[in-house]
Amino acid sequence: MRLTCVPGKDSILILPPTYGMYEVAANLNDVAIQRLPLTADFQLSNEIVAGIIASDAKLVFVCSPNNPTGNLLHAAAIEEILRGFRGLVVVDEAYADFASAPSWTTRLAEFPNLVILQTFSKAWGLAGLRLGMAFASPEIIGYLNKIKPPYNVSEATQQHALAALAAGGHFDNLRNDLLVGRQWLAERLPAVEIVDEVFPSDANFLLVRFRPDATAVYDYLLARGIVVRNRTTQPGCAGTLRLTVGTPAENEQLLAALREFTY
Ligand SMILES: Cc1ncc(COP(=O)(O)O)c(C=O)c1O
Repeated sequence: MRLTCVPGKDSILILPPTYGMYEVAANLNDVAIQRLPLTADFQLSNEIVAGIIASDAKLVFVCSPNNPTGNLLHAAAIEEILRGFRGLVVVDEAYADFASAPSWTTRLAEFPNLVILQTFSKAWGLAGLRLGMAFASPEIIGYLNKIKPPYNVSEATQQHALAALAAGGHFDNLRNDLLVGRQWLAERLPAVEIVDEVFPSDANFLLVRFRPDATAVYDYLLARGIVVRNRTTQPGCAGTLRLTVGTPAENEQLLAALREFTY
């Protein structure tokens, strides 16, 4: 944001419902926010793509798989954005390791305005490491290197990340367990009486619409020591909670609690 936006003058574009930090970072940098909401099924439409391409924003944040909805955005639509948008297209792939589609890093050479964000916080299970990655053209990375503070990622963080990479087999097992757990929950949740809809997910969580009162379900789970995310106030997400896939025991506990819920 500091690379591309003049504070008090320029804007970024976000596609709600989406990850909240884009907005926080824009506010901290006195950068305005344009919003183009996703469709009711949390996708990009031709109309939205046209709106993005017509926008004078300096950056568009495309979160895929999207938080909090869990779905991948259509690749063909992202490609159209990459070809037509005048600013940088930031594809946030924090959850890409859980997805069935290939990462946009495989297409980097085709698009000079593409920036891909990834993180050690999700599939690697290392959120406490505070280590993220940006993939972009050598030109963009060169500019980012120019504006970054002289202080680098700490030696301890680098050592920890290298150890994690060296133990990549363990990481594959963690991811596979997670995918089995997601499937297990996605198959069982629709039969729970208070569940209205389970949205398709390519992430490590499921967005679920509850009836008639998701916040009552949220409070009930919290009282049982089960922490989920209440997304009811997010655009297009009325009645929804975001359930993170846990260990098999945690998934069973969650399902049992939801089955036992009574108003
Ligand atoms: C879409 C998305 N991007 C980025 C992040 C943050 O990642 P990090 O822990 O590397 O700051 C999150 C975490 O919630 C996220 O949901």
